[in-house]
Amino acid sequence: MAFFSNKKSDTDIHKLNIPKHIGIIMDGNGRWAKKRHLPRSSGHTQGAKVFRKIARYCSDIGVEYLTVYAFSTENWKRPDEEVNSLMRLFKEYLNEALRDFKDDSIVVRFIGDKAPFSKELQELMIKNEEESKSRDGMVLNIAMNYGSRDELVRAVKNISQNVKDGSMDIDKIDEATVSNFLYTANQPDPDLIIRPSGEYRISNFLLWQSAYSEFVIMNTLWPDFTTDDLDEAIRIFNNRNRRFGGV
Ligand code: FPP
Repeated sequence: MAFFSNKKSDTDIHKLNIPKHIGIIMDGNGRWAKKRHLPRSSGHTQGAKVFRKIARYCSDIGVEYLTVYAFSTENWKRPDEEVNSLMRLFKEYLNEALRDFKDDSIVVRFIGDKAPFSKELQELMIKNEEESKSRDGMVLNIAMNYGSRDELVRAVKNISQNVKDGSMDIDKIDEATVSNFLYTANQPDPDLIIRPSGEYRISNFLLWQSAYSEFVIMNTLWPDFTTDDLDEAIRIFNNRNRRFGGV
């Protein structure tokens, strides 16, 4: 099936065209926990383990940019208990990431508005970005308090401000200008966006950047997601005919 698949891959990944930029909506943590009569936070903890494994694997197979959706601008609406457990997990993860991703030369970036996070978490994010910025490996964008509409509103405001103060000519604004005012400035658009857990939604993720991305929806819940699932998504991507609006 072209759009939806849960078949395990039997393809040698190294023979495939590896997407330069992959986006992943890490969905299904809550359902995974519910199926096991566990608190939702257990699903997030397991999801964090899978995230680290998949990030490493992407780096190993030559993905150049990986963007993962960890916390949206809308996720603050969840019960306090769940938000607090996610914040604890982020803190724990960020402390480990400082050590862990060093060996893989992974460059860690956070996309989204850092301001609402605790001072401690903000400092950890900045420290991760600073310490990893001179590495030469895969760029890992972790979307935290990220919303694509919010990102676009910020871009519009910043561009307008530049026009207002005379540093930008309105007639010179083009698509590249908008791209350059997004959190993903200077990065290629995602080639492939994977959504586990069977939901057919974009959920305010990379709306502008995904104009020509290929979508692969998979049944697996994120905490069960394996490197085989990633291989399978890449295999499906390889069978797509990308036309970018042409013929
Ligand atoms: C969506 O599943 C998942 C989230 C809102 C949290 C994603 C966070 C992680 C995977 C933790 C790892 C991230 C880092 C950076 C350590 P859901 O809770 O909406 O699942 P449901 O749809 O089954 O309820």
